Amino acid sequence: KTYTVADLLKQDTNSLHEVEVKGWVRTFRANRFIALNDGSTLNNIQCVVDFESMDDVLLKRITTGAAVHIVGELTESQGKGQSVEIQVSKITVLGDSDPEAYPIQPKKHSFEFLRENAHLRTRTSTFSAVMRLRSSLSFAIHKYFNENGFYYMHTPIITGSDAEGAGEMFRVSALDAKNPPLTEAGEVDYKEDFFGKETNLTVSGQLEAETYAMSLGKVYTFGPTFRAENSNTSRHLAEFWMIEPEVAFMDLDGNMDLAEDFMKYVLKYVLDNNPEDLEFLNDRLLQEEKTKPQAERSEMSLIEKIKFVVDNNFKRVSYTEAIDILRNSKPNKKKKFKYLIEEWGADLQSEHERFLVEKHFNCPVILFDYPANIKAFYMRLNEDGKTVRAMDILFPGIGEMVGGSQREERLDVLKEKMAALDIDEKELWWYLDLRKYGTAVHSGFGLGFERLVMFATGMSNIRDVIPYPRTPQNAEF
Ligand code: 4AD
Ligand code: MG
Repeated sequence: KTYTVADLLKQDTNSLHEVEVKGWVRTFRANRFIALNDGSTLNNIQCVVDFESMDDVLLKRITTGAAVHIVGELTESQGKGQSVEIQVSKITVLGDSDPEAYPIQPKKHSFEFLRENAHLRTRTSTFSAVMRLRSSLSFAIHKYFNENGFYYMHTPIITGSDAEGAGEMFRVSALDAKNPPLTEAGEVDYKEDFFGKETNLTVSGQLEAETYAMSLGKVYTFGPTFRAENSNTSRHLAEFWMIEPEVAFMDLDGNMDLAEDFMKYVLKYVLDNNPEDLEFLNDRLLQEEKTKPQAERSEMSLIEKIKFVVDNNFKRVSYTEAIDILRNSKPNKKKKFKYLIEEWGADLQSEHERFLVEKHFNCPVILFDYPANIKAFYMRLNEDGKTVRAMDILFPGIGEMVGGSQREERLDVLKEKMAALDIDEKELWWYLDLRKYGTAVHSGFGLGFERLVMFATGMSNIRDVIPYPRTPQNAEF
């Protein structure tokens, strides 16, 4: 039987003798010790080669990166930090790897370098750990919703609607680029597009999810989302994955409870199920922290930060309270904020958000009841006539992790909002129908999956938590 390394490391040596395993050589030391990894676990299995009885040509082919098939006896290990090892009786090189040319050398590589080798970077411990955690978090997300009575819904990728109204859309066109149909004025007639209207890649599945919430009750989407924002930051991608639950008969308080419960569940899931990967990343970060001046070092380790979120309530603060806090504080003794919040109604800049979560509250914060004019058209207007039932969840070290709201369920108010923002009713006739036929209070939110993976892995650049990041600079793969 062929085993995975993860299986083998769990075996005791009495239970089986001859084993077979396939994987990639991480290192080959002293012509004797192969550290073999097959991706099933962070850990390598040590395979001990009796070099005297081996063919020299074969030995030379055992190089870092080579794929090998090993047969041998599982025995107790004398080495430190491992309980078992394999005494190799037969080794076959399945795929050679030129040690001079192989980009992933057995040494520390910079993340920038590894990004250029994104196709090979999961051969490293750090990236394999991150991607196993990403997979585990996705599973936990589906598990949570499944256990809580939600239906998984697939929302369209190509759509005619601009849910966020932010205008950051990638056009999708089926027009013949060389010979496009023209309007009478001689301009390209996008209305002649494949769908008979201008289409784009979705920026959010929310509006479609609302339609299903208003029939199936509790639904969620978890799919790719696209934003043509040319911002080159460590927290933005042009293609990212978003989790969007939408629930009928749930108000904003219920929405906050759901988001908090959900995030705690999925983080707890990886604490329980991915201890090795988390400990590895935890140690990696501790080493990194040691290179910083004392004052800049983080008080908590990665695992402590995750546990803190799982065990403590998020702080819930209204936008108005947050503005008061910001007005009355000086983030560091000498400097005030670069962007002063002079007036109620201004949008928060990331430095304000960071101050609130990292300095003032020092925990995840749910900000709610934002000014209507800085939020999307679909959010429910409060009785004060100037704020909406919006919520953003801000995380230390990450910033905005979640954006959500209670939706405007009143047809007349929604129409007024749309008119004020010049949104054509004809474009969203189906969305308005929900308010005509059996309208009800409903709410939902969107969680940026990569930002969650960043938090759970401690990675500081969003490009390093998605297999092939799409940013203005990275589209090679
Ligand atoms: O705040 P946003 O724009 O909210 C919506 O799209 C709503 N329609 C969601 C809903 O209510 N169903 O985006 C939601 C989250 C953000 O909080 C952030 O975590 C993430 O998506 N996000 C991005 N992540 C990576 N790269 C980008 N360019 C992102 N833009 C938003
Ligand atoms: Mg937002």
